[in-house]
Amino acid sequence: MQRACVVFVLLLAMSAPGATRGASHEPRYKSEFTYDEQLLEKMIRMEAEMDKWETRMNEQLGQLTSLREHIDHLMKTEDFRLELIQDAFVESRNNLTALLSRADSQVQQLIEKIKKGRV
Ligand SMILES: *[C@@H]1O[C@H](CO)[C@@H](O)[C@H](O)[C@H]1NC(C)=O
Repeated sequence: MQRACVVFVLLLAMSAPGATRGASHEPRYKSEFTYDEQLLEKMIRMEAEMDKWETRMNEQLGQLTSLREHIDHLMKTEDFRLELIQDAFVESRNNLTALLSRADSQVQQLIEKIKKGRV
């Protein structure tokens, strides 16, 4: 990627009007040597910029990765909590069903006693 950018810049510089060897040769370059030298310096500066940029991108990528891991962890924890809540809900429902069934049979027994005049 970086190499491709440098090649692109080089091609761009060579196709620029200042790079042609005609009458349009820019006067701010004393000689072809000075021009090449300045172009090289420019390329070196750009490469250094790209290195810095790449480092920054890698740092941000690292931060994104750790953020993603954190979110994954939170989601797993949340799933676990939901499972616990669901289990508790099922247990409560079972307990309630058992309680209602016991109450029902006690009511039935009471009704039978009343019918037999024992209460
Ligand atoms: C369900 O009943 C069992 C046994 O009586 C009890 O230990 C448990 O705490 C109950 N669960 C809930 C959620 O009420």
